[in-house]
Amino acid sequence: MTYSSTMLEDLEFSQDNFPSIIVNDGSIETLDQARAWIGENLAILKKELSCTGALLFRGFPVNDAVSYDSFFSAFEYKNFTYEESLSNAVRINYTDQVFSANEAPKHVEIYLHNEMAQTPIFPSVISLFCEKTADSGGATILCRSDVVYQKIAAAEPQLTAKLAEVGIQYTTRISNGDNADSAQGRGWQGTLSVETKAQAEEKLDSLGYSWEWQSDDSLLAQTKVLPAIKSLENDRKVFFNQIIAAYQGWQGVKENPSRGLCFGDGSEIPKHFLDSICAIADETSYDLMWQDGDVAVVDNHIAMHGRRPYGGDRVRRVLVVLGL
Ligand SMILES: [Fe+2]
Repeated sequence: MTYSSTMLEDLEFSQDNFPSIIVNDGSIETLDQARAWIGENLAILKKELSCTGALLFRGFPVNDAVSYDSFFSAFEYKNFTYEESLSNAVRINYTDQVFSANEAPKHVEIYLHNEMAQTPIFPSVISLFCEKTADSGGATILCRSDVVYQKIAAAEPQLTAKLAEVGIQYTTRISNGDNADSAQGRGWQGTLSVETKAQAEEKLDSLGYSWEWQSDDSLLAQTKVLPAIKSLENDRKVFFNQIIAAYQGWQGVKENPSRGLCFGDGSEIPKHFLDSICAIADETSYDLMWQDGDVAVVDNHIAMHGRRPYGGDRVRRVLVVLGL
């Protein structure tokens, strides 16, 4: 559903309008005016976000990392820093809070996920800013986590109930040092914010992870049991995890799911259930076709996100801020 920046009284606070697109009708000309407008409308913008799960701001005076930082700051979220996170994506910081979305090569699809849901530390909001679109492709995929939950529960009631009850554990291979050719290319030093193996072990211990060092000094780590389905306000249940990204995108997991995923009781997640989850998410997805200057604000619990591959010579640049 599309709304005009001067007609926010038209916002419907309906869960059916995904995403809510708010277009500057020309009345907001400067960044200061945009910040003031956000401040005046903060309560209703956040209410709309809590209903639909994603807002897209189009045509606002945001054109680089610094103006995006300022625009996003007007929403008054607490900053969630990339350094402190356990993210294993390779990224570049542009301001204190703005960084590149994912430095994975353009032919690599980034599959749907809730941001950092494969770790115990995750942001509540993820914002994306398109500084430059790609020549072709490169849409950000958005998918409602509550709708996916409802469809999975209808299609696979027993396995979904088990997933909700016992949770999930992820097993990841973390390289020794960064590897820029992968969507999960951050090494264990960066992922865990440590320098030595002893410090890494201490950090893993504090997180409740189990681990094994490999002969090439990479790390095989298994998380503690994490929730895969969560209950929000009004008993709104959401599929909140990295199951799709792990199954489709992590090396070797599609062929052998237990390499990356298992139920929280240690039992295997059947492949047909994983295929069914991916098919349901696929049919539920929305491709956000970026325009230069677009800013999206996504509730990390209500919507998953991903990235389509892209082509052409133009360097696509999408930047990110995480909030709490
Ligand atoms: Fe992400």
